[in-house]
Formats: sequence, C-alpha cells, structure tokens
Amino acid sequence: MREIKFPEGFIWGSATSSYQIEGAWNEDGKGESVWDAICHTTSFIHDGDTGDIACDHYHRYKEDVQLMKEMNLQAYRFSVSWPRIFPTGKGKINLKGVEFYDNLINELIANDIEPFVTLYHWDLPLEFNKIGAWESREVVDAFVDYARFMFDKFGDRVKKWITFNEPLVFVVWFNFLGLYGKKDIAAGMRATHLVNVAHAKTIEAYRDSDNSDGLIGTTLNLNSVYPKTDSLLDKEGTTIVDGIMNRWYLDPVFKGEYPSDTLALLERIFNFPSIPDEDLQLLKDNPLDFLGINNYSCTRVNLKKPIKNQTDFNEILLPSKPEKGVEVSDVGWEVYPDGLYDLLKRVDRDYEHPLIYITENGMACKDENIVDKVVQDDDRLSYLQRYFEAASRAINEGVNLKGYFVWSLMDNFEWVEGYSKRFGIIRVEYETQERMWKKSSLWYRDVIAKNGFDFQS
Ligand code: BG6
Repeated sequence: MREIKFPEGFIWGSATSSYQIEGAWNEDGKGESVWDAICHTTSFIHDGDTGDIACDHYHRYKEDVQLMKEMNLQAYRFSVSWPRIFPTGKGKINLKGVEFYDNLINELIANDIEPFVTLYHWDLPLEFNKIGAWESREVVDAFVDYARFMFDKFGDRVKKWITFNEPLVFVVWFNFLGLYGKKDIAAGMRATHLVNVAHAKTIEAYRDSDNSDGLIGTTLNLNSVYPKTDSLLDKEGTTIVDGIMNRWYLDPVFKGEYPSDTLALLERIFNFPSIPDEDLQLLKDNPLDFLGINNYSCTRVNLKKPIKNQTDFNEILLPSKPEKGVEVSDVGWEVYPDGLYDLLKRVDRDYEHPLIYITENGMACKDENIVDKVVQDDDRLSYLQRYFEAASRAINEGVNLKGYFVWSLMDNFEWVEGYSKRFGIIRVEYETQERMWKKSSLWYRDVIAKNGFDFQS
C-alpha cells in the first residue's frame, strides 16, 4: 500500500454534457439540435433511445448539485446547449434557456463548486445542418457570436471556458458514420480546420470581452499510440496514426500550424486544399490558456498494408480493437493507465509544458450488482485508482496537470449506445429518475477530502 498525494490546489471534478443529461428537448423555447434530429429520424441509436428526457437534469439540477456537494466535488464541467440559448443558432435569444444556465451556475457557486463551461459538446443547432454544419464559415461566425454572448452574460462568474469537445469525434467520426447525413471523410478533415478557426476567433472574442480575467482552452480526445508489432509497417503506421488522431489537433492550437507529414498525406489522398495563411496567423495570435484532455484508453496500430488511398485511410481512422484477453471496459476500450502517463509526459514535452486538465476519464461498466442501494462497481473503482496513480506519477515528474474530471457524474445518454452503457459514478434509474451512489463515487468523495488515496499496486 502506498499513499498517493496530489499537490495543494489540485481540482477534483466530474463532467457531463448538455444533450446527454438535460432532457427537456423541446421545452421553454429550446430549438432543435442535430442530436434531436439524429435520435428522432435515424436508426443509428441503440434501441431507438433519445435524449428527450435523459437524466431530466433540466428539472433536477438542484438535486444534482446537492449530490456533487455531498461528493465534495470542487468543480463541475458541463456544456451549454447552443440551441437552448439561440433556438436557430443565431439572432433571437431564448431567455428561458439563459435563465436555466444562470440558475445552474449560481447554484454551483453557492455550493462552492467551480463551473467549467464547454461551449460546444456536439449539439449543433439543426438549422446549421442545412448550410453544411462545420464546413461553413457562416457557422463559424455564428458560433463566435454565441460565445461572445456567453462571455458577456456569464463571464463574471465563469472563469474556465472550453471552446470545443473533441473535434476528431464530432467532425470526423460522426461524418465517417454518416451521422450528419453523409459519409465524406475529406469534407470532415477539411471541417476540422474550420473548427480550429472558430476556436481561435472565440479565444480572441474572450480576450476582448469585459470578463476576460479567466482561462480559456479546448478539449481534445487524445490517446497514446503504440505499434502492435515490431514490423516497419506498424512503426511507420504509429507515426501516421499519431499524426491523424493527435498532432492534427494539437499542433494548430499550440503552434498555429499543421503537422507537415499529416498534411502531406492528406494532400496526396484527398487533394487537401492549402490552408490560408491568415487562418494560421489567427491561430498563432490566439494561444490557449490550458489544454483539456479526454483520455480513456490507448491506440495500437497494426497496419496490413501502406496507406495509399481513401479506403486505407478510413480503416486506420477508427479506434483499434484490443486483443483477446486484454482488460477492456464495457464499451470494449482497452484499460491501459500507462497510456495516460505517456500521453501527459509527451504533451508536456512537445508543447512547452502547458497547463493541463484531464477533462474526461472514466469507465463504462455493467454495474449489475447493487447492495443496499449502492452499486458495487469495483471494476470502475480499480480503473480510477490506476488512472489517478498514472496521473500522479506524471505530476511528480513535472507535468503541469492541475485538475481531473471523472466522466461521468451520472449514467447518461451515451450517444449511439443510448442508455445501454453506464459511465456514471452516480447511477440513474431511468424509469424513476432515482439517483444512487456507487462504490466509486463514495471512494471519490474520500479521495477529494484527503486530496489523495492509498494505492495498492
Ligand atoms: C467522450 C465524450 O468521447 O466519451 C463523451 O466526450 C462520451 O460525451 C464519452 O459520453 C464516452 O463515449 P461513448 O462513445 O461510449 O459515449
């Protein structure tokens, strides 16, 4: 047994996102988002589930904040539903939507819980699908206007802002799956650049706002990438996949440039257009204050042949499938805490020692065993212990990691998995909306109280 201590001031939190928990999809003047449409009109989602009601957090936010308080949470990362504020994405403001977030933020602050606000966690106003979603500069400008409104309205109380959650997922993977109505990866890759432009313009707008005394960053889903074998193909493939999955997102927000090897690959395969100098300058002029990292697993590369065309490219784009016998979560993701350690060290080394928050990490588990209304989620607890230990090792070696947000505060609508997968540290009984503790949340409460824990290696 070894005592693990975190530095003073380390922030312990938990995270959610609007569409996954709020419900109230058409209440009080909220406009439709692309996710309302995906759930209502396609067959992508497990069992035809929707986020119409989800965890009913829109009506139960006070109760949920009390649970956070009982868990000793110091910070809460949530996202704002853009169409709840601007029902059609721009123009007319929905005051009832503004009021909801006003109340939530005040409730958090009254309970000493710091709000970390994500401006975009995938619920794009549906109107914008008609004009090409993130392939349109009109959407970029509308996003910046929405962000500006948020800074003016809430910036006096919110001091941590996150522009986007996981561009790789919402532009490329959703596009790949055809969730946004088409399967055009080249368009998806091009759209990643416009998301970066929106990110930079939003940072600029924040610095120009009257409430610019906080910190602003972005959240990327990043994985350590390893070759599966010693073959040259796997080693070269590792650099390629690292370029596509990690550096393609990290380099622009830190350096105002794209990795040249990835850019060359995209030019060869997709005829990728050249990127305007003024866009790169905009990125250079607007550096972020912190990086949010979402990490759950790692990627192992096993290439069958060199990447020559779009089909080869598509194959390496999706997450790798773990070998038989490897420890995995209920969504099939490999459990590999050293992947987080390697990732933190690498970001620290390659991007000049940035301020980092882990904005999501957690485990989907079956959660079948409930005793006296406490879910016996020993597998999740063990996962968190090992990932926290990996993070603490990186901190001890100098990485500037200042906080950790467990995904997720409560079981919720897990996108294409619907309600079939449970990531929460609080259980939600969807029929009754009852909330229930899990062993992991009770343990987490003590970790936060002690700012550390006893680790059995
Ligand atoms: C992250 C997202 O990718 O992983 C969350 O930011 C998501 O919104 C979480 O819920 C778990 O992933 P999934 O695909 O199993 O729902």
